Amino acid sequence: MRTLIKGGTVVNADSMATADVLVDGEVIALIGRDLDVAADRVIDAIGKYVIPGGIDGHTHMELPFGGTFAKDTFESGTRAAAFGGTTTIIDFAVQPRGGTIRQGLDAWHEKADGKACIDYGFHAIVSDMRDDLLPEMDQLVQEGVTTFKLFTAYPGVFLSDDAAIFKALRQTAANGGMVLMHAENGPVIDVVAADLVAHGTTDPIGHGLARYPVFEGEATNRVIRLAQAAGAPVYFVHLSAKDALDEVRRARDAGQPVYAETCPQYLFLTLDDLGHGFEGAKFVCSPPLREASHTEELWKGLISNDLQLVGTDHCPFDFHGQKEMGLGDFRKIPNGLPGVETRVDLIHDGGVVSGKISPSRWVELVSTAPARLFGLPKKGAIAVGYDADIVVYDPTRKHVLSASTHHMAVDYSCYEGRTVVGGSDVVLSRGLIVVEGEQWLGHAGHGKFQRRQPRRVAPSVSVPIEERVPALVG
Ligand code: URP
Ligand code: ZN
Ligand code: ZN
Repeated sequence: MRTLIKGGTVVNADSMATADVLVDGEVIALIGRDLDVAADRVIDAIGKYVIPGGIDGHTHMELPFGGTFAKDTFESGTRAAAFGGTTTIIDFAVQPRGGTIRQGLDAWHEKADGKACIDYGFHAIVSDMRDDLLPEMDQLVQEGVTTFKLFTAYPGVFLSDDAAIFKALRQTAANGGMVLMHAENGPVIDVVAADLVAHGTTDPIGHGLARYPVFEGEATNRVIRLAQAAGAPVYFVHLSAKDALDEVRRARDAGQPVYAETCPQYLFLTLDDLGHGFEGAKFVCSPPLREASHTEELWKGLISNDLQLVGTDHCPFDFHGQKEMGLGDFRKIPNGLPGVETRVDLIHDGGVVSGKISPSRWVELVSTAPARLFGLPKKGAIAVGYDADIVVYDPTRKHVLSASTHHMAVDYSCYEGRTVVGGSDVVLSRGLIVVEGEQWLGHAGHGKFQRRQPRRVAPSVSVPIEERVPALVG
C-alpha cells in the first residue's frame, strides 16, 4: 500500500517546508516537492501541517490505583490517543510489591498485546526497590525497557527511600537506563493532609492545599543531588511547581543531565478548579494543580527548554462511582486525570496559536523530544526510513472539547466546553490510516510493542568504587 500526502507543510522539530510525503508500507519512502509517483491513495494536505505522530511518554491504561482501576483499556485508550493525533504511548507497568519488575511487565503485556491500536512501549514502576532487582534492571534495559519510575510519594504504596533511589540511579548510570522520578515529599504531605481533615477540610480542595509546592521542590532537589552523586541522568515526570522547575533549571545550568516533563493540566488548569465542592474531585491528581503563577513559569520552562516535553499522565477515573469514592475524605479520591486525546490540540492551541512557541517547538514537545529521550530512533520525525506515523493536522479547525464527543472511556472532560484551534484530520500509524475525520479505521492489535534503545553510556560513569576511592578499599 502506497499513500501520497500532497502539498502539506511538513513540520519537524528542526525545519518547516512545503513537500509531498510518500508512504510505502509501514515507512516513509520519499519526501520532495511535486512528487510524480504512483500511489494507491492520495491525501490532499494543502493548507495543513504534516507532522510526526504524537508520542505520549506518560500514560496509565488500566492502572490499579486508589482501590480501583484507571478506566481506559489499552484498546479504548490507544484509540482515543489516535483520534487526538498520538500514535505511540509509553505506559507504566507496575512491579507487584514483593515480586519482580519482570512480573509487572508480563502483566502489562497481557493487557496490551493484541489489543493496542497504536504502538506502545513500557516504563517500569518499581514499587519495591530491592537489591536483588538490580541485575534484572540491567537485563530489562537490554530488552528495551530502559526507564524505571520511582517515587518519593505515596507511602506504603510506591514510596522508595533515599538509599533505594540512590541504588537505582547508580545502576542506571552504568547500564544505559534512566530513572524517572515522581518527586513530592509524600510522608510530609500525609501529615498536612491529616491535619486538614482533622480540622474539617474534607473536600477535594484539601488535596491541593496539603501538597505544598515546596514539597515538590524539596524532593526534586534531593533527587537531583542523589543523581549527581550517582553520576546518573534523571528525569522528572509531571513537574507542576515553580519550586521544582527552579531546581531543574539550576542543575541544568550547572551541566547536570536533568530532564523534566510537564502535562497539559499544569498548563491550563489551576488550584481553583479543585474548589466548587466535590466537583473538584474531577481535577484531583498528584502533584496537584497549582496557582496560576506556576502555570506561567511552566510555559517559560517549555520555551527555554528547561522542560523538554509534554506528556499527559493519562489516568482516567469516572466522576460517578470512582472519584466519588472520596466523598467525605479527599484522601480517598483516586488520583489521576484523563488527557491522552487532548494533549496535541491543547499544546497547539495554547502554545502555537497563542504565539508562545513555534510549530516546530510544538512538534518537538509532543513527538520528537519523547522519541529521543526515550530511545525510539524510528519515530518523532517526518524523515525517509522512519515509521510512517503521520498526522495531517488542520491548524485552523476550531472544535470544542467535551465528554460528549471525546473517545476516552471516562464520564467527564477536564476541559468541558473549551474551544481549541487545531485538530487532526488524518492519522497514520505505521502506514495504516487509522483516523480520517470522525471515522475510525484502525483496529485492536495493530499496535506493536516497541523495544526502546538504551542511552549510550560514557565509560567514566561506571568506574568501580575501588578505583575511585582506593584508600578506603583494602
Ligand atoms: O495523579 C496521578 N498522577 N496519577 C497517576 C499516577 C502517577 O503518580 O503518575
Ligand atoms: Zn507519578
Ligand atoms: Zn503517572
